[in-house]
Amino acid sequence: MSYKWWQSAVIYQIYPRSFQDSSGNGIGDLQGIIERLDYLNDGTRDSLGFDAIWISPFFKSPMKDHGYDVSDYCDVDPLFGDLDTFDRLLAAAHQRGIKVIIDYVPNHSSDQHPWFIASRSSKDNPQRDWYIWRDPKADGSPPNNWGSFMGGPAWTLDEHTGQYYLHQFVPEQPELNWRNPAVKEALFDAIRFWLDRGVDGFRMDVIGLIIKDEMLRDNPVNPNVNLTELHPNDVMGRTQSLYNLDQDDVHPILKEMRQIFDRYDGDRVIIGELWGPLDRWARYYGENLDEIHMPFNFRLMDEPWETAAEARQKVNDLEAAIPAGGWPNYVLGNHDRIRLATRFGPRARAAIMMLLTLRGTPTFYYGDELGIKNVDIPPEKVQDPQAKGLGAGRSRDVARTPMQWDDTPHAGFSRVEPWLPVEDEYQVRNVTAQTADPSSQLNLVKQLLYLRRGSAALSIGEYESLSDDPHVFLFRRWHGEDEKIVALNFSGKRISVDLERPLTLLLSTAVDRTRQAVSGVFELRPYEGAVFGAADKESIE
Ligand code: GLC
Repeated sequence: MSYKWWQSAVIYQIYPRSFQDSSGNGIGDLQGIIERLDYLNDGTRDSLGFDAIWISPFFKSPMKDHGYDVSDYCDVDPLFGDLDTFDRLLAAAHQRGIKVIIDYVPNHSSDQHPWFIASRSSKDNPQRDWYIWRDPKADGSPPNNWGSFMGGPAWTLDEHTGQYYLHQFVPEQPELNWRNPAVKEALFDAIRFWLDRGVDGFRMDVIGLIIKDEMLRDNPVNPNVNLTELHPNDVMGRTQSLYNLDQDDVHPILKEMRQIFDRYDGDRVIIGELWGPLDRWARYYGENLDEIHMPFNFRLMDEPWETAAEARQKVNDLEAAIPAGGWPNYVLGNHDRIRLATRFGPRARAAIMMLLTLRGTPTFYYGDELGIKNVDIPPEKVQDPQAKGLGAGRSRDVARTPMQWDDTPHAGFSRVEPWLPVEDEYQVRNVTAQTADPSSQLNLVKQLLYLRRGSAALSIGEYESLSDDPHVFLFRRWHGEDEKIVALNFSGKRISVDLERPLTLLLSTAVDRTRQAVSGVFELRPYEGAVFGAADKESIE
């Protein structure tokens, strides 16, 4: 069986506004990414060794949702550079063996996109039907009860033509009508534009939303909702998302989309942003594995779990749900959720070890290698439209703060005050400081990536859970002769694990433990994770 690059790869997500500012305006840019590529992979053991980067949107945009509102799918926003900078970034990444995955936002455009400007200009404009327009109800209210993810209703009335348009995010993100073949073709052209330029893959934004119920029926009222706890502006929370996403007729479109990718060489990859119950989620692989290569798996990030037993259950459920030949993936942090360090607290290192040793492609969010925490954003500095719509409790700014490179002002991210505040503790938590400290989380991540890269068992091997211990997640990975055992103690207690035979400890989250022979029983410290290999012969050097 042959494996594709994206199966053995570890992906690093870059939120371009926050990675490196090269122009001196407090906002990161593409040139900044170029300057920092060696940190991610310079081909030696000194760098982290990530195989791919996924860059959140850098396309032309009025930035009402920080780039997820695109006004030109085939150009770079001047804030981030231009097409020439992108080409240089792509070449520089490829030179280092780093694949480049870009973000594709097909569900909605910006309201400043020429398509929408034409569409809203009059009811009989040829592009009217490129977006989703409906008459008000008899009493003037919106056409149905759908709410926006950002708060408020999913419809905005356009006074000029007297109709409502649909937007499940901010009003400046009108939703495209994928049932119109011309829209589909235009968005397929955008895919070809970037594939022709040489990108290695796409992460597809809210891909399960592009097709809605043809009749736009009301969603059922959510029977479990506690209205006293729900934010008053959370219209979406009052209903169940039955008709606004995940419709059966999205699948033929994804098959067509996949065919575009399959015509290119180099195993270009599609990763889809998807949620929902496992059985419906798994359908996005396609009946014949002919849709999305990897529907993002957010379960270990989004669903509550504390114990090893709960983590094991989620992993085993996922493994069982994936269709034959489908490839799993795991995510523990991204630009829409809280920081990994905040989510997992003392379990963070063991969680990272789990992410990098399970079967499947891991996606790592920038800064999580340092343990950057959620940053409280003072009210006057709030940027995120979701925080503006649904309150500070739903802020995504908290996990979008600047990368922490060193202890100089603004953490080496920018020469001027950045668009979001830098974490207070940046003077101790930064790349320079952690590079110098052998026991740092950064060095743990580096060693884990190195171990994974050198091990077929860890990068492409099979997975099997080995025990039912409620506190230790013990599993085996193997491929050919290569075998690794991973033991993760998610509890605050010391726990002995029975490994049943002599092994070699290769790496522990407590990085003061060095490589050593283990007799068969190993005592894990609180929250410690460890990777073991065959007795004696193993070497991580
Ligand atoms: C996705 C993105 C999020 C964005 C939304 C609308 O969920 O990850 O950041 O706000 O789609 O495009």
